[in-house]
Amino acid sequence: MSDVLAVDAVGLTKTYGMLTAVDRLSVRVGQGEVYGVLGPNGAGKTTFLRMLFGLIRPDSGKLSVFGRSWDRDGVRALDGVAGFIESPKFYPGLSGRKNLQLLAGLDGGVSGSRLDEVLETVDLRDRGGDKVGGYSFGMRQRLGVAASLLRDPKLLVLDEPANGLDPAGIRDMRALVKQLAGSGLTVLLSSHDMGEVEEICDDVTIMRTGKVVYHGPMTATMTAPVVATRRPGLAAALRWEIVKLAAQIRSRALLAAALIVPIPVVAVLNGQAQVPSDTIYGRLVHLSGYAMPLLMLAWAAQWALPLLAAIVAGDIFAAEDQHGTWKTILTRSVSRSQIFWAKTLTALAYNLLLLTVFAASTIAASVLIIGHQPLTGLSGQTIASGPALRLVVLAWATAIPPIIGFTALALLLSVRTRNPAFGIAAPVVAGFAMQLLGSVSGLDLTRKLLLTTPFEAWHGLFAEHPFHGPLRTGLAVSAGWTLICLASAYLGVRRRDITGG
Ligand SMILES: Nc1ncnc2c1ncn2[C@@H]1O[C@H](COP(=O)(O)OP(=O)(O)O)[C@@H](O)[C@H]1O
Ligand SMILES: [Mg+2]
Repeated sequence: MSDVLAVDAVGLTKTYGMLTAVDRLSVRVGQGEVYGVLGPNGAGKTTFLRMLFGLIRPDSGKLSVFGRSWDRDGVRALDGVAGFIESPKFYPGLSGRKNLQLLAGLDGGVSGSRLDEVLETVDLRDRGGDKVGGYSFGMRQRLGVAASLLRDPKLLVLDEPANGLDPAGIRDMRALVKQLAGSGLTVLLSSHDMGEVEEICDDVTIMRTGKVVYHGPMTATMTAPVVATRRPGLAAALRWEIVKLAAQIRSRALLAAALIVPIPVVAVLNGQAQVPSDTIYGRLVHLSGYAMPLLMLAWAAQWALPLLAAIVAGDIFAAEDQHGTWKTILTRSVSRSQIFWAKTLTALAYNLLLLTVFAASTIAASVLIIGHQPLTGLSGQTIASGPALRLVVLAWATAIPPIIGFTALALLLSVRTRNPAFGIAAPVVAGFAMQLLGSVSGLDLTRKLLLTTPFEAWHGLFAEHPFHGPLRTGLAVSAGWTLICLASAYLGVRRRDITGG
């Protein structure tokens, strides 16, 4: 193991359409070296480093980092590796310290004292508590170095770390890199500045328009093998998603609204002399507190439930695009699959919680305001108070499968469109379109396959002789939508090239 190269790239090629961004690039970096990749803008330096981090896949060639490769080892190829691509990106609404803590969570956690230590190293100790949104460019660069150091890397990869800094910032950044290099770390640094590379690096590869034009001397100083970093697993990724969601005002406000809004709505509807007689159970709202939640369920299914399902799910992937943070989280220790499942499970759990709160509040408000009189069934039979309550709860529970389906649809759109607004709005529009399509007569098969139809499957429960056929069909249709959407979203996350940001 001890003669393993830190970076061993052979014949790497990446093309974008007609443009060959990196052309048969070979680079060998020994352990302990401070290595520079020098070249003008557009030379292909960033493209090479993106391949190194597994953010994009090479079209051909081989790449191993400490003997590990992406094809064989997945995210383990990043064990012992840290750094950033172009300017590092963070969540602007959180403090520098909180950002570091969240990122460290993706590597299995960190102690408070270690956080202070890395903040001290990059001279951000005093500003760690401030929101990153208020940081200068240089402070963000230094926070990027701190985020990398938290991984205790053996190889530090910095993509033009001094780019965009003022002269003082450049001097500080160079001093920092030299200090880190002096501690035995292997450093791979890209730059367009000959002076910088001369000052810092032992060896250099010079690139121009994707090709190597010069290789400096290779003094492959070989040192100890990397220690595998801890594998934080899905739980860490989940914890981190939940922390982010809990910090979001939108998600908390929505839960509060689901709890509170049904109360005035029920009170106002009950106070009106005119009843909404064109909707199922509308005529009976004054007669039993169990009719109102059924009317609300029928209404909510038209747009509110798809919207509730989409607000978090439609945003959860696309928000990373919006902040440019994909590259920040995908260069830690968790794999793309783990990130995918963490986001998916978080969105699903949140939406089920939201539905539960909404249903419980609606039912409780109706029974408290109107009363628990027996309910007239759809065949005209009388249903006593106890069984009526059970049926009403069950009716709301039948919304779970289509809600999961709409969540999966929103997740898919969030992944594919990379746009939070679209991810949230599109499922609602799709819901409307499906309602319309479902109301066209003569399209029975189509109607069955729509994701909105399962929202009506509860009607059968209220017949004199209850029938469950629509519930079974609804379950199967919802499951089908869920599987297809999640599979497509998963492939989208696994396969996509992370560029930009
Ligand atoms: N996502 C992309 N789509 C199309 N072209 C790209 C993309 N990323 C980079 N390129 C092109 O590849 C070339 C190399 O870019 P890059 O690796 O960013 O260079 P450097 O980091 O050396 O400035 C440039 O011509 C750039 O325009
Ligand atoms: Mg670049």
